[in-house]
Amino acid sequence: MAKVFAIANQKGGVGKTTTCINLAASLVATKRRVLLIDLDPQGNATMGSGIDKHALEHSIYDVLIGESTVGEAMQFSEHGGYQLLPANRDLTAAEVVLLEMQMKESRLRSALAPIRENYDYILIDCPPSLSMLTLNALVAADGVIIPMQCEYFALEGLSDLVDNIKRIAELLNPNLKVEGLLRTMYDPRLSLMNDVSAQLKEHFGDQLYDTVIPRNIRLAEAPSYGMPALAYDKQSRGALAYLAESVFISFVYTVVKGLIFIAGQTSQSLGQYRCRLSRT
Ligand SMILES: Nc1ncnc2c1ncn2[C@@H]1O[C@H](COP(=O)(O)OP(=O)(O)OP(=O)(O)O)[C@@H](O)[C@H]1O
Ligand SMILES: [Mg+2]
Repeated sequence: MAKVFAIANQKGGVGKTTTCINLAASLVATKRRVLLIDLDPQGNATMGSGIDKHALEHSIYDVLIGESTVGEAMQFSEHGGYQLLPANRDLTAAEVVLLEMQMKESRLRSALAPIRENYDYILIDCPPSLSMLTLNALVAADGVIIPMQCEYFALEGLSDLVDNIKRIAELLNPNLKVEGLLRTMYDPRLSLMNDVSAQLKEHFGDQLYDTVIPRNIRLAEAPSYGMPALAYDKQSRGALAYLAESVFISFVYTVVKGLIFIAGQTSQSLGQYRCRLSRT
């Protein structure tokens, strides 16, 4: 069953799409089955995955309003090695159209239910707003990865986002939690970045990923070729940082799955033991 991560931050330009594309490709490189969902009308994750957003027959918009199945809208990113549910500006209409629909905040969750077991990870690229689209992503997700730049104003928006996640967890999706904060475009030579980093560590403790994504030109260039950095320049610092992060994420998940499996086995053998005892 796929683990679903929303990559969200209502602040624009913090590296959400770059994180989605590069984590997706890195998880594929570590042999995971990945679906990337572009939930942003800008369609940047679509273009960055090598799919022309202007030439879509079906998109995530059609899926959300029930006019296409996930299978009909899905495309394969050749350079990324993952499946993609693409988006373009049609998705702007979803904000209004969804308001009229029943279960408007769980349309994405319902659409994903039948295909969740086909993947190990589903990543959702959110738009830079706390909109109906982001709400759908947060209701569908198990965890939220928050990319952020370590600058002063980043902290302001962060508390709004974390409050929203808590509220959604209380009202709509009890599974939802902050999976981790990912520092992007990081430059350790800037003292402001180190100061903000220290504050983040103080507030969020273990929720702050140890891996930092450096500012790296290869990460900025790759999308214009429709590629993740791993395909564009696999030796680049940016590609390697995302690879390290994906190894961490899948390691944590594998350990959790392993513990659940062991707990299941243990309770099964305890059950058998109890049965044997009750028979004697
Ligand atoms: N680590 C990095 N090093 C250098 N450039 C980066 C890095 N991460 C992202 N960028 C560049 O910064 C810009 C913003 O990144 P990106 O589009 O991923 O942010 P976003 O949060 O998805 O933006 P939006 O809120 O508009 O959706 C892009 O031009 C991207 O190529
Ligand atoms: Mg984006």
